[in-house]
Amino acid sequence: ASDAGRERFDAIIAADERIEPRDHMPDDYRKTLVRQIAQHAHSEIIGMQPEGNWITRAPSLKRKAVLIAKVQDEAGHGLYLYSAAESLGVDRTDLLDLLHQGRQRYSSIFNYPTLTWADVGAIGWLVDGAAITNQVPLCRCSYGPYARAMVRICKEESFHQRQGFESLYVLARGTDAQRAMAQDAVNRWYWPSLMMFGPPDAESPHSAQSMAWKIKRFSNDELRQKFVDIIAPQADALGLTLPDPDLRWNPERGHYDYGPIDWEEFTQVLKGNGPCNRQRLAHRRAAHDSGAWVREAARAHAAKRAARAQR
Ligand code: 3HC
Repeated sequence: ASDAGRERFDAIIAADERIEPRDHMPDDYRKTLVRQIAQHAHSEIIGMQPEGNWITRAPSLKRKAVLIAKVQDEAGHGLYLYSAAESLGVDRTDLLDLLHQGRQRYSSIFNYPTLTWADVGAIGWLVDGAAITNQVPLCRCSYGPYARAMVRICKEESFHQRQGFESLYVLARGTDAQRAMAQDAVNRWYWPSLMMFGPPDAESPHSAQSMAWKIKRFSNDELRQKFVDIIAPQADALGLTLPDPDLRWNPERGHYDYGPIDWEEFTQVLKGNGPCNRQRLAHRRAAHDSGAWVREAARAHAAKRAARAQR
């Protein structure tokens, strides 16, 4: 049965069709999807912290309302992605335990601090912009539940990116202090946003297999390049500069050249030595513990309803 199953799996992948939860799939296909989708979900949940930090200090009711909507969206994306991971036979309780024990990752980008209000705009423009560049191809991922979750998430991400760009646009045309604040935030978020796309292709252990299984549709470096090509002209439109002296349009390549990335910084952040790694995990564990009563109440309620249904 497994040979026939494997042949069917290979045929579906070759035909660019979707693998669904009940289809036969190689253990490693399932494992790498659980790894990636869990980390994606963890990123959304941890990602609420940096900008959530500014909800009580937003400069206007409008900015506060927009920020609350965005942070709430990230929570929803996380729950959506945990559901996609659960379609592969794992339980979100276990995935969260792995996150809390530091045995499952979340995106490096969320280990940086949000020092001023302008960081909220820089995150929307750069971090959500990078997330869109990475997530649009994932809408064509070979695993059905993940690809469908991405379609919904990408729609909301485009709102996240636009509100960030608009906020920076206003700051860049405000007082000198506001403009300097916007430029400072862009200076701090540019390089970490390039690292979101993962290590260089030559140092990416998962890429070859993920591309063969049509989970990853473009390589890390291809998406990083696509992102730089998008934000370079956008920075001009903002009237802000990107902190990269090597950034320039290369007519031969038809792309922007950009400077060398500090992969040692990336490695340190992944090892847990980034600026905010410890705070982010401590905050997450505390939130999980203080939410235990909600989970117990939900379980008790579900048990009562199940018992009533039996009568
Ligand atoms: N942060 C943390 N870990 C990273 C990373 C990053 N930016 N980039 C790569 N890694 C890790 C990988 O997880 C892998 O480690 P592992 O084996 O322990 O999982 C290792 O570095 C090698 O990297 P590879 O390129 O070989 O790994 P992948 O093929 O998984 O590619 C990826 C990495 C491009 C991030 C891919 O996993 C992916 O596309 N994930 C889904 C997208 C995602 O997670 N996005 C989070 C962005 S933030 C977000 O979505 C919230 C938004 O709303 C703001």
